[in-house]
Amino acid sequence: MTIDFIALLSAGRIAPRDCIQPVAAARLALEPQRAEHAQAMFEVLGDPALYEYENTPPVSLDALRERYGQLESRVSPNGAELWLNWVLRLTDGPLIGYVQATLRPQGRAAIAYELGSAWWGRGLATEAVQAMVDELAKHYQVRHLFAVHKHRNQRSHRLLLRLGFTPCSAEEHAQRGVDGDELLMQKQLP
Ligand SMILES: CC(C)(COP(=O)(O)OP(=O)(O)OC[C@H]1O[C@@H](n2cnc3c(N)ncnc32)[C@H](O)[C@@H]1OP(=O)(O)O)[C@@H](O)C(=O)NCCC(=O)NCCS
Repeated sequence: MTIDFIALLSAGRIAPRDCIQPVAAARLALEPQRAEHAQAMFEVLGDPALYEYENTPPVSLDALRERYGQLESRVSPNGAELWLNWVLRLTDGPLIGYVQATLRPQGRAAIAYELGSAWWGRGLATEAVQAMVDELAKHYQVRHLFAVHKHRNQRSHRLLLRLGFTPCSAEEHAQRGVDGDELLMQKQLP
């Protein structure tokens, strides 16, 4: 049965916190991201290695806390997408990164992920993203996954290949307006 979280949310029939659950993986836990995670995540996201190819760190702790507070609505500002964010906690340890999914109609989802560089090279990001993908398939009926990365970001590319993603066609890149220095990857779930 397909649960239409957006319809239930906009009708006020469920609370935003009921749209997202904790997820357990072997070496880490995915916790629904909340404003109170901002302080620890501000440190994680201050890591310059995360921005080698794109983006910039949060400008301040207050700004990050406010952003995380807004994201607790679990819906895009236009009300059309479910925005699911989880922070990653090493089992009984510190926060080390996050995973996120943007859910669109017809079982489509765009995913993203970041892990503090102190934790790279251990398969933790693969484990976290796989746990999120399993959750998206099981509880949100996601069937078609997408991710975009800069061509030069080979760590991200390898992660997606390990998870069974393949590059989209040139046509799909054009259709979706993907920048010339980016690669769109996709995976169809059974
Ligand atoms: C993209 C990112 C999450 C990948 O992190 P990562 O540590 O390379 O990914 P994993 O946790 O899956 O680790 C994989 C590496 O660990 C190795 N590894 C060790 N043990 C492993 C295990 N049990 N399972 C899988 N891989 C394992 C793999 O061989 C792989 O090594 P390789 O990079 O030489 O191929 C990280 O580089 C990052 O946060 N980058 C900055 C943000 C970013 O670019 N985000 C994506 C934007 S599109």
